[in-house]
Amino acid sequence: MKRYFLSLIGLLFLANQVFAANADYKLVLISMTNNAVRVRLPLTDVTGKVRVKEKSSDGFGLPVAPMKTSLNKKFYLEWQIGYDIPNTNSPSVVPEIKFIRNSETKYGHELSKIIFEALRSEIISTNDLIREIDSLKKILPSEFEENQSVQVEVSTNSAADGFQSAIQRLPQFTKTTPHGWVQIQLKQKQRAVGYQAMVYVCLPMNEVLAMDGSQRKTGPAKSKETVYYDFTRANSDLLLAIIHAFGIASQQHNEDIQKILGKILETTR
Ligand code: ADE
Repeated sequence: MKRYFLSLIGLLFLANQVFAANADYKLVLISMTNNAVRVRLPLTDVTGKVRVKEKSSDGFGLPVAPMKTSLNKKFYLEWQIGYDIPNTNSPSVVPEIKFIRNSETKYGHELSKIIFEALRSEIISTNDLIREIDSLKKILPSEFEENQSVQVEVSTNSAADGFQSAIQRLPQFTKTTPHGWVQIQLKQKQRAVGYQAMVYVCLPMNEVLAMDGSQRKTGPAKSKETVYYDFTRANSDLLLAIIHAFGIASQQHNEDIQKILGKILETTR
């Protein structure tokens, strides 16, 4: 009986390992290559933080089924990039960057790691970061995108069958650079009243690389396919635009990003 129990435990452990290995492609991984901070992103995790969208004239983009669509330069990856995490369990954490928000400990993650590595490999300079901190300090509370008003237009005459129509206008702010763009979108909060400013990094499909480091060829995504995006000196304006987007998105993001940039500067002294 005991033997069966032990075998069962072993089997469960193995199944768990296999499952974890299968889901590994969903992880955002950040590594250093010569002169680039290389980010690995999943192409087919349609419910996760990285989605494939088709460009649209309104800038919001249309989500697509990546394995059923030939992905060319009209498509882009919309990445809800993070910058902090409450523990050190992720491969994209920077344990050296530790800060407190509302009396909870946070560690630098994703964007923080990209900035940390980009500074060490001279893709951006300490002066870039000092200038950014100065500019973030000068933003007035009324200027945060989260404080922009969301208009709801309610029509005066009721629509067909007694239903009354109303239209919400949700603001979106986009900064475009030659190798990608960053957006701030106001979204309804999921578990509270009000709106929150979400920051998305948008990477055109013709800017991403296959696993061998060559430009990814047009075509539908393969199952569990991952791609690379390289942050280099050539596109450092995108990295600075992402930092600035968080700085103008909300008071909380502004404070967090100032703390993170301060810590990154401290660790390189
Ligand atoms: N907090 C951490 N990452 C965020 C993002 N991309 N948008 C909004 N809030 C965030």
